[in-house]
Amino acid sequence: MLVGRKMGGYLIAHRLYSRVVELRQLTVADVPACMKVAADRNWAHSDRTWRFLLELGTGWGVFDGDELVGTTVVTSYSGISAISMVLVDSRYGRQGIGGELVSHVLDSGVSCLYATPYGKPLYERLGFHSVGKVTTYSGVYPRDGGGISRPAEPADLPFVVALDAEAFGVERAALWEGLMACGSVRVADSGVVASTLTNGTTMIGPVVSRFAADAIALVCDAAARAGQVKVHLHDDWVARHVRARGVSTVGSSCDLMVRNASDVPGDRSLYHAPVSMALG
Ligand SMILES: CC(C)(COP(=O)(O)OP(=O)(O)OC[C@H]1O[C@@H](n2cnc3c(N)ncnc32)[C@H](O)[C@@H]1OP(=O)(O)O)[C@@H](O)C(=O)NCCC(=O)NCCS
Repeated sequence: MLVGRKMGGYLIAHRLYSRVVELRQLTVADVPACMKVAADRNWAHSDRTWRFLLELGTGWGVFDGDELVGTTVVTSYSGISAISMVLVDSRYGRQGIGGELVSHVLDSGVSCLYATPYGKPLYERLGFHSVGKVTTYSGVYPRDGGGISRPAEPADLPFVVALDAEAFGVERAALWEGLMACGSVRVADSGVVASTLTNGTTMIGPVVSRFAADAIALVCDAAARAGQVKVHLHDDWVARHVRARGVSTVGSSCDLMVRNASDVPGDRSLYHAPVSMALG
């Protein structure tokens, strides 16, 4: 429950105790504290990932005194917002903080997120419904297949942004500029794949392609010589090929959920893997 506003933050009445915690916007200076909350929940995101998310979107944190105890980040694209990093320190769990954080960033527009089994009941209560699933695959990819793509150049940006907009449903030029600046982007005639190195693992995504066979080849190209890779896959056919190459599933599947719309926008048959669970 929001009980008041003060400079730079909001005050929330803590439901279990009479203590009052503060909700305020996160900055990159809060990244070490964000990582501490994430580590408490065994989430292994690097400081680079948090920085990228806080630069691209807006983070909110719940503070008990000086201590950060809950986080969320909202990344607004034109027409849809992606909600991510919903984390509450385990000592503060089940006291309403997660619900307050997510309610705070919701508006009358369309929101989407990937829900873990822990978060799903909370999101359903706030009006989200499930429209799909992704499974995470991780391992060392064998060096076979692929060979259909080349490194993207700045001149490829319009093609990449347009194809991604067709698949994802809204334009994300700033995201692709960021991926080109701090990751690796490869293009083929029919698709594009991006990858970023996080904590020694190459995270592959998005994978956008007009054909599933080319999506598999793009994953092979991004994984070539990468060592340990991770990719979240929507598509059973692509996922079957990844599994057949000995890359195994990690953790439980997550639900793609949406609020204030019957479905996520775009042609998701072209969108084989998201950027990350955080960015959609
Ligand atoms: C998911 C997560 C963010 C929830 O945070 P939270 O602060 O515990 O969330 P809330 O307290 O608002 O709601 C959680 C439960 O506590 C209950 N609750 C809320 N206030 C309560 C209170 N005062 N007393 C008892 N229970 C309470 C809620 O009804 C809810 O119950 P339900 O899950 O049975 O529906 C937290 O568990 C977490 O960080 N998990 C690990 C990371 C994760 O999976 N995040 C989700 C990413 S999609």
